[in-house]
Amino acid sequence: MTEVQTTTSRERRNAVRLADRFEPLEMPELEYTDAVARETEPLYQKVKDVIPAIEWPVMAPYVKAINDLKKQRNAVILAHNYQTPEIFHCVADIVGDSLQLAQQAARADADIIVQCGVHFMAETSKLLNPDKLVLIPDMQAGCSLAASITGADVRLLRERHPGVPVVTYVNTSAEVKAESDICCTSSNAIQVVESFGKDTVLCIPDEYLAKYVATKTDVRILTWKGHCEVHERFTADELLAYKEANPGLEIIAHPECPPEVITVADFTGSTSGMIGYVRDNKPAKALLVTECSMASNIAADLPGVDFIRPCNLCPHMKRITLPKILDSLVELKEEVTVDPLVADRARLAVERMVNLKS
Ligand code: 13P
Ligand code: SF4
Repeated sequence: MTEVQTTTSRERRNAVRLADRFEPLEMPELEYTDAVARETEPLYQKVKDVIPAIEWPVMAPYVKAINDLKKQRNAVILAHNYQTPEIFHCVADIVGDSLQLAQQAARADADIIVQCGVHFMAETSKLLNPDKLVLIPDMQAGCSLAASITGADVRLLRERHPGVPVVTYVNTSAEVKAESDICCTSSNAIQVVESFGKDTVLCIPDEYLAKYVATKTDVRILTWKGHCEVHERFTADELLAYKEANPGLEIIAHPECPPEVITVADFTGSTSGMIGYVRDNKPAKALLVTECSMASNIAADLPGVDFIRPCNLCPHMKRITLPKILDSLVELKEEVTVDPLVADRARLAVERMVNLKS
């Protein structure tokens, strides 16, 4: 299990904590009554094709309690495309890829942001909303890419490549963002790399994203050896075998996949780019080469598409569950803080990306 890269305890003591400014609340009743069944029925209709009816009586009391508490607390729930369908369709206010979540976090006017995603996403929300209480339902929800590089590594890279701009993937700690010139996500990496007008750029830490970007630009890309533990498991042979067994199958890949996987894909893009491709093209059969909950989330909206699912789960994303979201709203935990020593520089790198004109 990779460790979440976050601030040290000394630095965390110095960061301003906001949770104490809110009133404690009682844990609501969690019974599946007729009233709960009636109230949550329209939400169940959205997910009925991907959540068996037998599971709904367990989920529905949490869904109702979370939606009630959100109003009471003036909280907004941001959920990444990899969250499970009951979170994505039934309690989230805003869903999307990393860039969309960062943009929406910047516009949030709630008092509390609950980030259903991984730690770097919650940290990014905090950077863009320093005066709001940002909560993550499980502080251990990390990311193998974020864990692959430290701020000290970036400083060494700068020494080794003087004058070369540093673009860091948003899947990094605030400490790493603070050492970079600008952030990128998988949906804007090419534009960000080209924004410098330079012939060489460091694009770190995802080796495969960097290699993908290098195939789309004349800029020379230097990178790092970080990998996503979910996407690196896919192989071209496995995908070709699915293609052979399913005539007409379209393969849609995320750029965190190894280059040989991207070579056999019909389309490559960010999680929202992948969703957009399936919505626009409605292939009869589709295989999303990414975290497995995303196919369930779109399948709920697109019953006409047959999703072939090699199920690779992100263990970090899957730490977020309805009971933990409810705890988060009741007990105001876990509060995400950013080391004041790095926050301003990290924010600048994220804001440069968010403000980049397309
Ligand atoms: P997206 O920015 O495409 O949503 O990707 C985030 C991520 O963690 C993919 O593994
Ligand atoms: Fe990180 Fe990969 Fe999980 Fe995305 S899917 S959060 S890149 S480990």
